Amino acid sequence: EAAEKAGFEHFMMKEIHEQPKAIRDTINSVVRDGKIDLSGVGITEEEIQKLQQIYIVACGSAYHVGVAAQYVIEELAQIPVRVELASEFRYRRMLFAPNSLVIIVSQSGETADSLAALREAKAHGVKTLAIVNVVGSTIAREADHVFYTLAGPEIAVATTKAYSTQLIASYILSIEFARVRGMIDEDRAAELIAELQTIPDKIEKLLEDKERIQWFAAKQMNAQNMFFIGRGIDYAVSLEGSLKMKEISYIHSEAYAAGELKHGTISLIEPGTLVIGVLTQQDLYEKTVSNMVECKSRGAYLMALTTYGNYSIEDCAEFVIYIPKTDPLFAASLAVIPLQLMGYYVSVAKGLDVDKPRNLAKSVTVE
Ligand code: G6P
Repeated sequence: EAAEKAGFEHFMMKEIHEQPKAIRDTINSVVRDGKIDLSGVGITEEEIQKLQQIYIVACGSAYHVGVAAQYVIEELAQIPVRVELASEFRYRRMLFAPNSLVIIVSQSGETADSLAALREAKAHGVKTLAIVNVVGSTIAREADHVFYTLAGPEIAVATTKAYSTQLIASYILSIEFARVRGMIDEDRAAELIAELQTIPDKIEKLLEDKERIQWFAAKQMNAQNMFFIGRGIDYAVSLEGSLKMKEISYIHSEAYAAGELKHGTISLIEPGTLVIGVLTQQDLYEKTVSNMVECKSRGAYLMALTTYGNYSIEDCAEFVIYIPKTDPLFAASLAVIPLQLMGYYVSVAKGLDVDKPRNLAKSVTVE
């Protein structure tokens, strides 16, 4: 097993470091000469043109990919998107709009609820597209179209590289849907693809700075509660950062859309409670800062995760992590990295079983 960890102490850390390669491989599988080619996925331009509604259905981290993808698809391709938890979706009355597409996101391709949702959609005559990591898995076999993420085998229960490649797959679909439907021109599509190709290097840069996160994370090991807040895509990142934290560190943590704070979470803020603000979306920056200040005035201890250049955040936050600039639509891919590391290092500091957290399974094949 030591050999399989390639010198890392845990599979999770190994897999965190495999993200640049996993992303490069996933991009290269569908981008040729700077252009997206979905012929391997199987969805045609005619199908894309007809789309009127998209449902993204998944569980766990894959669901969080859907929350981020919703913003990206609606912004670029301007197709309405609904994001659904598979365990809820499968038991609801399904009122599909005509020309709908159901996108199932799943690392294993075996999650019981996601598979059941896929089958329900097919039974209603709706086209399905699966974003799946495991080749030949049940969801991959049964979906009409398959976009394989090339993350390779993922061993740690807490997903990192599969999540990151699922995000990339969703960006690629967004760009191509937008181009085919005439919402963006060829130049803009090429620009976005070129930006996507810079993400692996930017992740490598973030990984160089991990000791600083380790130092901060170790100080949080006795925390009872943590809150992650953000707006838009930063809310989607907060959901994933919070899940990473709670699943492997056993610290209660919640993600809240920053504007919802006043409707609940703020009553839980006590002196010293850690609040992590995610602020990569420039148009929402000031709004989230003001929510962070509200927490601070109730005693919260603030960490911020923002883009280089937003140095004014240091006026309120005690600890700041900067991420490289990218197109704001792709910022989740960078912002999630320090949060994966945070969860990892808190878990290590507490001496927990990072790769196999209690009560959790890698693949949930029962309801
Ligand atoms: C489990 C895993 C999660 C994963 C979820 C969905 O809970 O621990 O990491 O996000 O299942 O799994 P899937 O294989 O469908 O992506």
